[in-house]
Amino acid sequence: MQLKGKRILLGVTGSIAAYKSAHLTRLLVKEGAEVQIIMSTSALDFITPLTLATLSKNPVYHQFHDPNTGVWTNHVDLGLWADLFLVAPISANTLGKFANGLCDSLLTATYLSARCPVMVAPAMDLDMYQHPSVKQNLEKLVSFGNLILDAESGELASGLSGQGRMMEPEHIINKVLKHFKPSQAFAGKKVLITSGPTQEAIDPVRFISNHSSGKMGAAIADSFAIQGAEVHLVLGKGAIRPENPNIKIHPVVSAQEMHDKAASLHPSVDIVVFAAAVADYAPKQVASEKIKKAGEEMSIELVKNVDIALTLGKEKKHHQIHVGFALETENEEFHAKEKLSKKNFDLIVLNSMRDTGAGFQSETNKVRIFAEDGTAVNSEVLPKKEVAQLILERIKALPVKI
Ligand code: CTP
Repeated sequence: MQLKGKRILLGVTGSIAAYKSAHLTRLLVKEGAEVQIIMSTSALDFITPLTLATLSKNPVYHQFHDPNTGVWTNHVDLGLWADLFLVAPISANTLGKFANGLCDSLLTATYLSARCPVMVAPAMDLDMYQHPSVKQNLEKLVSFGNLILDAESGELASGLSGQGRMMEPEHIINKVLKHFKPSQAFAGKKVLITSGPTQEAIDPVRFISNHSSGKMGAAIADSFAIQGAEVHLVLGKGAIRPENPNIKIHPVVSAQEMHDKAASLHPSVDIVVFAAAVADYAPKQVASEKIKKAGEEMSIELVKNVDIALTLGKEKKHHQIHVGFALETENEEFHAKEKLSKKNFDLIVLNSMRDTGAGFQSETNKVRIFAEDGTAVNSEVLPKKEVAQLILERIKALPVKI
């Protein structure tokens, strides 16, 4: 089930190889992919939509609107839905339309509006495949960033023999699996992440804390683990746990405990991400018994907590990378850059509380990432998993160390 959660839009065009798209659909579904299918009108002469609908467990589209129901199929939605648009087989005719921006069908309109990667598997007869115009069109698609699944050699439907057969579905599946296989860029790297809130005890039943959910830290931990890193997550109480079972979780409660655990791991790690929302102050005295109600007012004396990032930043070795977060409500960029240099970070991820779709409990985040060398990238409002990937990309882009 290596394609679980992946959304694949399969385009099928008019070629005798269209019969293979049934087998291809089965293989994609078997690997856990969600498959939706668009056929060109001429593909209908080779295979029925019913076959593909049954195998994909989804309705099959081939026209902009259904004349019986009057329902319009939105090509933009289909294009945005897909993680991958795979056109197999692609005929010389559809290839020519893709290469030249022609848009006379649902399939070609979807191609123009798709934002996801596109793979095409040509199928045509020997001399057609060799024709300079076909070759030129394939080159054009390559220049658009599309991936060509080269036709294979063998016996062709015309009786001729040579290159032109659509790549076998088993081989196409291998290309698709390879496409989605995460990079192992962090294999052999040890990563330490602090995440979630800290709790500072007042008495046995009360504490000071904050609204941090730990979602961002969990997403970062998962991204590192997927890319091969050994991940240690020092996790505040009540924070979201990552999905990946290989992540080593070190539960802590207070800032001091978080510091002590992180400090013990720090010398052996390559990368540290300080994603925790650490309480800046803690009660000076922790009452051993529950504090009873008395008087109209009460005050609790607070003392400054250890700054984990600052302390470990002073011990940072040349090969180590430190990434910090900053949550600001005003003068965001100035404060973030100040923290970047004060805490000896290589990167700092700025969340602004002003942005809608960003913040503690949200499923999404919008960030600006500043590097020590002054470069910056801004994200849109993205799911926290995608923000995590962006942070990892920035870490990979750092010079020398990785
Ligand atoms: N941090 C930390 N230990 C602390 C406080 C903060 O490790 N005691 C880390 C956070 O995990 C974050 C970065 O330092 O990566 C900045 O945290 P933030 O709360 O934005 O900044 P503070 O230094 O606490 O400053 P202020 O609250 O005044 O903005």
